[in-house]
Amino acid sequence: LFAGTTDFLKGVVAMSGMPPADRLEVCFAGRSNVGKSTLINALTGRKALARASNTPGRTQEINFFTVADSHYLVDLPGYGYANAPLPVVEKWQRLLKSYLSGRPSLRRAFVLIDSRHGVKKVDSEIMALLDKSAVTFQVVMTKTDKVKEKDRAKVMEQVKAALAKHPAAYPEIVLTSSEKGEGIATLRAIIAGLE
Ligand code: GTP
Ligand code: MG
Repeated sequence: LFAGTTDFLKGVVAMSGMPPADRLEVCFAGRSNVGKSTLINALTGRKALARASNTPGRTQEINFFTVADSHYLVDLPGYGYANAPLPVVEKWQRLLKSYLSGRPSLRRAFVLIDSRHGVKKVDSEIMALLDKSAVTFQVVMTKTDKVKEKDRAKVMEQVKAALAKHPAAYPEIVLTSSEKGEGIATLRAIIAGLE
């Protein structure tokens, strides 16, 4: 799948602007700065396809990327703290929630969790929304290069305990580092294997 052409399609600021729900779609959700845009770049092998930066709140629209004419990868604005004016943040949070609960072609939501921080309250809220909307979600741990091996296990226990409360959670957790390339091939295979 990822050997095919990837392209930016459009940035959407309202549900009315969504492209037709005519192909398999996966999205990347997570707190601001967790590494969503960077992960999309790693998956597609294109360094600057999705805009990433160290400023939380970089992605402010719902960005659609096409993969091989058969899939959409969707980069979402972050939730939680973002470095932008409150009314703006509230507007994109509403859009994010509408998207996560009302997109018919959304096949799986990847919920990104920082390997240093584990599942936070805002993550649990998003997971509960996905439960309610019956959207299968899968946790992707990011920035594994930033945690020591011995600290990983503790965070993983916390994440597993949090997932046990969510019926829409897919049990396999994917460990990734966009920096080092860990888990990227695994995640590509997971996406390519969805039907
Ligand atoms: P918003 O769009 O603001 O919600 O953020 P985002 O989740 O898209 O995060 P983004 O991809 O912009 O990355 C935030 C910062 O984390 C950037 O400085 C990235 O370079 C860094 N980053 C992302 N992934 C990794 C990783 O695997 N390892 C390391 N060390 N840094 C990473
Ligand atoms: Mg982003």
